[in-house]
Amino acid sequence: MRDSRFENPFDNRIGDYRARVERLLDARLPRADVEPHSLHQAMRYATLGGGKRTRPLLCYATAETLGLASEDVDDAACAVELIHAFSLIHDDLPAMDDDTLRRGRPTTHVAFDVATAILAGDALQTLAFQVLSDDARGNAHTRLAMVRALADATGSLGMTGGQTIDLESEDQRLDLAQLEDMHRRKTGCLIRVCVQLACIAAPDVDAGTCDALDRFASSVGLAFQIRDDLLDVEGDTAVTGKTQGTDLAHGKSTFPALLGVQGARERCAAVYDEALCALQPLGDAAQPLRWMAGYIVHRDH
Ligand code: IPE
Ligand code: IPE
Ligand code: MG
Ligand code: MG
Ligand code: MG
Repeated sequence: MRDSRFENPFDNRIGDYRARVERLLDARLPRADVEPHSLHQAMRYATLGGGKRTRPLLCYATAETLGLASEDVDDAACAVELIHAFSLIHDDLPAMDDDTLRRGRPTTHVAFDVATAILAGDALQTLAFQVLSDDARGNAHTRLAMVRALADATGSLGMTGGQTIDLESEDQRLDLAQLEDMHRRKTGCLIRVCVQLACIAAPDVDAGTCDALDRFASSVGLAFQIRDDLLDVEGDTAVTGKTQGTDLAHGKSTFPALLGVQGARERCAAVYDEALCALQPLGDAAQPLRWMAGYIVHRDH
């Protein structure tokens, strides 16, 4: 019998998945009337209402591909989004990208203050690991492997290290290999771990499938940041919700700066092809992930 998932494409379900993760995040974040109010308000401000939820959607798309239930990856989806929200607060700080606009609203340090924003980022990071180590579902071994994978993706060899390279390479000219390495770390690692966490949640998945999914996620993670760099040049603030041209103003190393807009578009298309190629052995089951890859490289915000 044909699986109804393949007659009902993934994009028909993204509204439900977004609502699901919004509800879960809302329930897991401390309420704004719990002391200290300013900290909890800032955590909620930075997390709720506005993100595309691309990382949770990748968790759910991988879960569908592997035949898992949404419940199997709910905690992973929330944890990655909490890390993402923390990374954005810190990315926007005056000492980092010094941005005042995010998701069409003042950045967290502008809406609150710099100290509260730093602390909200810290607390969101620890909340991510609290959520992931909640053993309500899945066994302790699985949860431990998830915690380890998320810590690796977030730490000095992952996102945080990539952000360091990003700052240190302002006003410098990285070559293509260095630029790709930075992008894979600062953005790719958190994208890649979404797929890894779903693989960890799948007890019977074989090594070949995990390897194909990891190659897919690695390419999609790079494509995501190339598209982000392009949107900084070509996007419209009214649509992206971010100030345009900040990369150039800060002397950032980006794909359009190195390859030109057309060259960056071509590199993004080539990496998208690599992602789709990696999914070939998975056949129809990987349709949700094909849809996600297309969404990531064609998005306008
Ligand atoms: C923006 O990420 C920051 C990068 C890692 C490039 P998103 O484009 O996923 O931001 P939101 O969560 O949808 O606002
Ligand atoms: C942000 O990259 C990456 C992380 C937050 C880890 P950018 O600095 O390019 O993201 P935007 O453009 O401010 O969203
Ligand atoms: Mg940045
Ligand atoms: Mg930034
Ligand atoms: Mg950017």
